[in-house]
Amino acid sequence: MHEDTSFAIHPGMGQQSGAVVYRDIGREMEHQKVNDIYLFTCENGRVAIQFYTDSIVRIVMNPDGEPELDRSQTVVAEPDNIIVKEDFSADTYSLKTSKIELKIDREPFRVSVNDLEGNELVSEGERGMAYRENGEVIVYKQMYKKDHFYGFGEKAGFLDKRGEVNEMWNTDVYAPHNPETDPLYQSIPYFMTLRQGKAHGVYFDNTFRTSFDMRSNADRYSFHAEGGQLDYYVMAGPKPKQVLEQYTHLTGRMPLPPKWAIGYHQSRYSYQTEEEVREIAQNFIDRDIPIDVLHLDIHYMNGYRVFTFDNERFPDPEQLIKDLRGMGIRAVPIVDPGVKKDPEYPVYQEGVRQNLFCKYLEGNIYFGDVWPGTSAFPDFTDEKVRNWWGRKHAFYTDMGIEGIWNDMNEPAVFNETKTMDVEVMHSNDGNPATHRELHNVYGMLMGKATYEGLKEQLDGKRPFLLTRAGFAGVQRYAAVWTGDNRSFWEHLQMSLPMVMNLGLSGVPFTGPDVGGFAHHTNAELLVRWTQVGAFTPFFRNHSVIGSLYQEPWQFGELYEAIMKKYIQMRYRWLPHIYSLFAQASKEGLPVMRPLFMEFPEDEKTYNLNDQFMIGDNVIIAPILAPSVEDRAVYLPDGEWVDYRTGDVYQGRNTYLIHAELEDMPIFIKRGTAVMQADWVSNQDKTWKSITMDIYAGEQGESYRFSYYDDDGETFAYQQGRFLAMEIEVASKADAVYLDIGSQSGDYTPAYRQIDVNLIGLKQGQDVIIKGVKSNGDHKLSFSEW
Ligand code: GLC
Repeated sequence: MHEDTSFAIHPGMGQQSGAVVYRDIGREMEHQKVNDIYLFTCENGRVAIQFYTDSIVRIVMNPDGEPELDRSQTVVAEPDNIIVKEDFSADTYSLKTSKIELKIDREPFRVSVNDLEGNELVSEGERGMAYRENGEVIVYKQMYKKDHFYGFGEKAGFLDKRGEVNEMWNTDVYAPHNPETDPLYQSIPYFMTLRQGKAHGVYFDNTFRTSFDMRSNADRYSFHAEGGQLDYYVMAGPKPKQVLEQYTHLTGRMPLPPKWAIGYHQSRYSYQTEEEVREIAQNFIDRDIPIDVLHLDIHYMNGYRVFTFDNERFPDPEQLIKDLRGMGIRAVPIVDPGVKKDPEYPVYQEGVRQNLFCKYLEGNIYFGDVWPGTSAFPDFTDEKVRNWWGRKHAFYTDMGIEGIWNDMNEPAVFNETKTMDVEVMHSNDGNPATHRELHNVYGMLMGKATYEGLKEQLDGKRPFLLTRAGFAGVQRYAAVWTGDNRSFWEHLQMSLPMVMNLGLSGVPFTGPDVGGFAHHTNAELLVRWTQVGAFTPFFRNHSVIGSLYQEPWQFGELYEAIMKKYIQMRYRWLPHIYSLFAQASKEGLPVMRPLFMEFPEDEKTYNLNDQFMIGDNVIIAPILAPSVEDRAVYLPDGEWVDYRTGDVYQGRNTYLIHAELEDMPIFIKRGTAVMQADWVSNQDKTWKSITMDIYAGEQGESYRFSYYDDDGETFAYQQGRFLAMEIEVASKADAVYLDIGSQSGDYTPAYRQIDVNLIGLKQGQDVIIKGVKSNGDHKLSFSEW
């Protein structure tokens, strides 16, 4: 009642401190090996150890009996055949692959994972695996002074999560996102530890409410679940990038999105009529501001009934979608999970008749209040329901829609707990389980249903899906935006570590609502946020009902011109960004990265929150506060060239950089290159020419970049219709050498060669392209089919 006043900390409120007692796993009594799985019977439970690769090991403890190894909702990898050297002769057992060694103490049972140089990755001390009679499971791990923790999915606060407790329980949080607001919409029970330049990862494969405590104890951390098994994977790295490859080997990678989805998105809760949507689109065309997507928020529907359009507000959606396409714009409508309880609404009728909604064990449907009023919720844990839901999207795809926005899929319900009753029983493809167990995967499974349905209907075209809720593996289906932020400078600041940690959690396609969702934005904030948005993987401006409109032209010409410059810059950089998306889809690496990913030895990068990298050679150092025109920029090892001026800065230094409102500091590593295209118009977005900007070095720098292109729209690339080039740049005192290391794929783009632009070439330095000295008109040709 008095939660919002100081009464909340009244001495009589009784801060409970009674320590919770867990039962330790106890000593080991027996071990055996069955089908490459090591099974240990301990005093108080059974443990299984299974190697997935030479660098990934899985450890499972089931307090209730045999460890169950086939109930994962998220892991898509199968274990490889791994050669393990076993030694059970000594008091400490040893299991060794070509990359890691597990040491197992028997009394009490304690496991450590080590690299082959003898460095501990994860290890247990006084405490190890334990549980309580109520079903909770926990494990404690040693924590060292120099440990830094990242990942954990979508979290507020700073990049390094040391000193934090993070909880996983998908939650709709409209109240402001403060640094301590936790949990939010996405739960990814995974983290990466960086210890003295080396990284390893832990993925806790448990869908119950889990928590990770990196705070309460000076020399150990723990992770804990309300139920289920203690089932986790250790990924040995040792480079941060390898940890991500390993983690996404387990939980899957993002399919390559269509190019249009990587462009600029404009949204508003809501553009309420067809006329308004047309007017917004026309403004972008007339003002020559690039745009690929307009989002349709809940007002397009008839009484918020999904799979309907409101006949009065949107009398002819098919024509609208068609006309927008003529302008080079796609419409992405919102689809929430709640189906309005209305006996005259066919979707509701079908759901009831075909038994597709979430129900209690006793058989009654669960109803909750969301936008449409009383609603039922499809049980996405059931394949039959997923297929039904997927097929329903023909309603949209028949109109030419190729993208969907899933919201409220935590699921959010307007009640005290903010979600579905945890006692609801899901069908779960034949293994019924409560909402308490499956809450965290509900949103991701909605995403699976939607993505797969769209893919089926789009006849070879790539779907785009945006989701608010998700779990480990959500990257296989959807891009993620970070929910209902506010038009606060603090939220612009917080969005950087948030998006970086999502990328470190295997989800590369993410971004915040640019300009801020709730509250009222202002010209300066919107400009600064748009500058950052031009380089975040997902780039969408969105705002809440009742707030000031925040399309790029709403604050007058001066600001419009700056935002236009940066949105156009996004399109200029698209060939580079698209290549990074291709890399993300192949290797699981994020597009937007913290600096430590490229410089893991450099401690200054370990909690750098206000700068980020695009790929491995570009640093973005935005202005993140009002009235600020100068900021400190840390440049790591190497020499760095200011994108705006060409000035060169020595790395391992901090500089005060000046950037007025029309400017955002961008630095490119000397000796490397970036790929750029010319902006033509909204109606014609095909790249006619591609330029490679080489930032010439002279000290033996060498650089490789995988340039990737394809039709941007279909899955033909999976049949070899792509162009992939390993581009190599070597800078020496006398010349800059440019070569194609290898080329593959048989896609022929509209451009016939790559124009090469040398920045910072020294007097007397030659340019040698594929072994031939260039005469000044530098071109890189590639083989054609
Ligand atoms: C939720 C979403 C927001 C959307 C609104 C109306 O608050 O997070 O993006 O605009 O619902 O659908």
